[in-house]
Amino acid sequence: MTTTELVLNPHLALPDIIELTRTEGDAWKLSHVRRVLKLIGLIGAGMVYDETAVTIATYLHDWGAYPRFQQPGVEHALRSRQVAETLILPRMVLPDTAVAIILETIEYHDYRDFRPVQSTEALLLREADFLDFLGIIGLVREYGRGPKEMESACRTVLKRRELIQDRFTLPVAQQMAATRLARLAQCLAWLQEESFDFL
Ligand SMILES: [Fe+2]
Ligand SMILES: [Fe+2]
Repeated sequence: MTTTELVLNPHLALPDIIELTRTEGDAWKLSHVRRVLKLIGLIGAGMVYDETAVTIATYLHDWGAYPRFQQPGVEHALRSRQVAETLILPRMVLPDTAVAIILETIEYHDYRDFRPVQSTEALLLREADFLDFLGIIGLVREYGRGPKEMESACRTVLKRRELIQDRFTLPVAQQMAATRLARLAQCLAWLQEESFDFL
């Protein structure tokens, strides 16, 4: 980690976190956060949760995968939690309850993590993050990630779908997942037809 180059204010607020997400991640990663926040609003409608905590957690959830913060051998969700815990949250004015929620929400978000979550906020981020891997957006994201290799991108999308598709628990997320899974299946079938399976 090259934190020596990162000069942080002693006090950080949400606009600083947003700006750091844009500069340390990039526009592509910031768009993912914005979609996930939108999804959380939709799948969490009518639920009681700490909106500030889940918003901060969503901005921070993938920081462990950003070049400045990533560490070989440390899974990105855990690394994101470490960065939040040591570098970011101590600079924010937040109640202890919110800090605990944010840390759990970040650490447990990844689809490869099958541990149950405790908080509503962690459930919301997890299922919203799952949804952004499905449908047309999931396919486009994978191709947008590069490199110029269509077959492996397709394999990754299918493998991820296997791990995600049966894990939605929130009713709106289940409905959205069903729509996205159907679109993804149709899109993959068209891709196969138009490419004559030469990917
Ligand atoms: Fe992630
Ligand atoms: Fe994510």
